[in-house]
Amino acid sequence: MEFTDTVVIVTGAGSGIGATTARMFGERGATVVAVDRDEGAAEATAGLITRQGGTATALRADLTREGDVREVVSSTLSRHGRVDVLHNNAGVFPAAEGRLHEVDARSWDLTLRVNLQASVLMSQAVLPSMIAAGGGSIVNTSSAQARVGDVAWTSYGVAKAALESLTRYTAAQYGRDGIRCNCIAPGLVATPGALARLPAAQQTTYEAATLLGRLGRPEEIAEVVLFLASGRSSFLTGQVLCVDGGLLSHMPVV
Ligand SMILES: NC(=O)c1ccc[n+]([C@@H]2O[C@H](COP(=O)([O-])OP(=O)(O)OC[C@H]3O[C@@H](n4cnc5c(N)ncnc54)[C@H](O)[C@@H]3O)[C@@H](O)[C@H]2O)c1
Repeated sequence: MEFTDTVVIVTGAGSGIGATTARMFGERGATVVAVDRDEGAAEATAGLITRQGGTATALRADLTREGDVREVVSSTLSRHGRVDVLHNNAGVFPAAEGRLHEVDARSWDLTLRVNLQASVLMSQAVLPSMIAAGGGSIVNTSSAQARVGDVAWTSYGVAKAALESLTRYTAAQYGRDGIRCNCIAPGLVATPGALARLPAAQQTTYEAATLLGRLGRPEEIAEVVLFLASGRSSFLTGQVLCVDGGLLSHMPVV
């Protein structure tokens, strides 16, 4: 199978895109480390993979904490010897935060710490072992929100835009070590996290503005993550792929 003998860490693996990506890595032979701050959710994902005949472990971690990040990577290395793929997927959608002058400092801080800083910490923690192993692939998770302005969600858009920049810096600094770093920027995808924050009327608006006329499915995002993680994208690094059904590919008036 495509990911046999491949050790993959997926963050935020307890729900939505991360849970689906972890499951699909498992189905294709990877040894999956499913990380989430929600222990039961991480265990559910790992349990599903093992019941399907795959190999997975669950780790509880709050990735805004450096100690938790170090523990995730050191326990993966001591158990499996290396990390071939890191999918930085964990994220939070901010509560209604209003316009910029209304944004609560604590909400701003949390959004930046989960959506940006956690990926920085995780990448810093795995890179030395990837260098020692002679290669690896990191896939970050941005959003369509990174590429446009919006009437709210400033902290989220800013964090994701910085993550796209981090992707290019990582690719620039580690290409000679055989390490690739790419990023996905999903449009609106039907996951528990996204749907919980989105009123039904706004879903309809998103569907109307998406060229394919519907929300994305987690499997459609996971498929691109697996492509970026695999040797099939061996000459691709420093790129952001918008997986958005055409949400940002047209004039808003069309
Ligand atoms: N669903 C969408 O429409 C959409 C669109 C664009 C980008 N994204 C991005 O995709 C990623 C996954 O989104 P989703 O919709 O599947 O979300 P989700 O809320 O369904 O799942 C996110 C998971 O991350 C975990 N998590 C949150 N904070 C964490 C922390 N500090 N430490 C460890 N785990 C933590 C949560 O427990 C949850 O299991 C996020 O980065 C999100 O910003 C989603």
